[in-house]
Amino acid sequence: MEVIICPNEARVGEIGAAKVAQLAAKVGPQVVLGVATGSSPLATYRELAALVAAGELDLSAASAFALDEYVGLPYEHPESYHATIARTVTTPLGLDPARVHVPDGDPARLDTAGERYEAEIAAAGGVDVQILGVGANGHIGFNEPTSSLASRTRIKTLAPRTITDNARFFESAAAVPRHCITQGIGTIMDARAIVLVATGDTKAEAIAAIIEGSVTSMWPGSVLQLHRHATCVIDEAAAGSLKLKGYYKQVYANLPDWQRLDV
Ligand code: F6R
Repeated sequence: MEVIICPNEARVGEIGAAKVAQLAAKVGPQVVLGVATGSSPLATYRELAALVAAGELDLSAASAFALDEYVGLPYEHPESYHATIARTVTTPLGLDPARVHVPDGDPARLDTAGERYEAEIAAAGGVDVQILGVGANGHIGFNEPTSSLASRTRIKTLAPRTITDNARFFESAAAVPRHCITQGIGTIMDARAIVLVATGDTKAEAIAAIIEGSVTSMWPGSVLQLHRHATCVIDEAAAGSLKLKGYYKQVYANLPDWQRLDV
C-alpha cells in the first residue's frame, strides 16, 4: 500500500485531493467517484472544490456513489448521508445531482436496497476512484469488525464504538440510528483505485493495524493490503503508531518525477 505522511490535516486535504484529481484525470470526464461521509474527507473535498473553481478539474460529467446511509433517518435530516453528500460533495464539486447515488435507507424498501445499489454501481461501470475514511475500530464504510471481507451492499448494525464516535453529529448517542446500509467490503475492493484519508491520534491504532497488521476482519480496513492500487494519506498524528514511518517518508521523498503529486 502506498503511504503518504503529511505534516498536518490541511496538507492531507491537499495531497488527498491532488491524488484523487490525478487519478480522475487519467480516467476522463466521466469518472465514477466513490465518496465517503464523516469528517476525514472534508478537507479533501474542500481542496477538490478549489480545483474545480479554478478550472483545473471538471467533474460536471462525473458520477458518484456514497458508501452508506443510516436506516430510517429521513433524507431531510441534516445528518442523513443523502443531505451530507449533497452539502459536502455534490454542490461544492459541481456534480450533477442526477448522477450522485446514496444507498436507500428507507425501511420500507430495505429488502431490495442492497441489490439495487450494487446494480446501479455496475450500470455506471464500477467505481474508478474511491475516497475512504476509516473508523477508530478499523471499519471502512460501516463494515464493522468481523464483517465478511467478501461482503456486498447490505444492512449492518453499528458497533458501540461507532455510535459513540458519531454521537458528535447528533444531539446524543441515543439519537444515532442503530442500523445502516453500507457498501460491502467486497464492493469497496472492486473500486479500481482507493484513496484513504485519516487524521488525528484517535486513528493511530487503526492506521497501524490496517497498514502493518495482519489482514483480518477484526480490522476491516486491513483488506486494503490486498488491493492493487490503494493509497493512505495521513497526518503525523494518525501515523503515530506506524513502525515503518521513516521508510514511508523516504519512499515519498524519492518518488520518480512522473509519480509526484503536483502540489
Ligand atoms: C463514512 C463512513 C465511515 C467513516 C469513518 C470515519 O461514509 O463510511 O467509514 O469514514 O467512520 O469517520 P470520520 O471521518 O468522521 O472519523
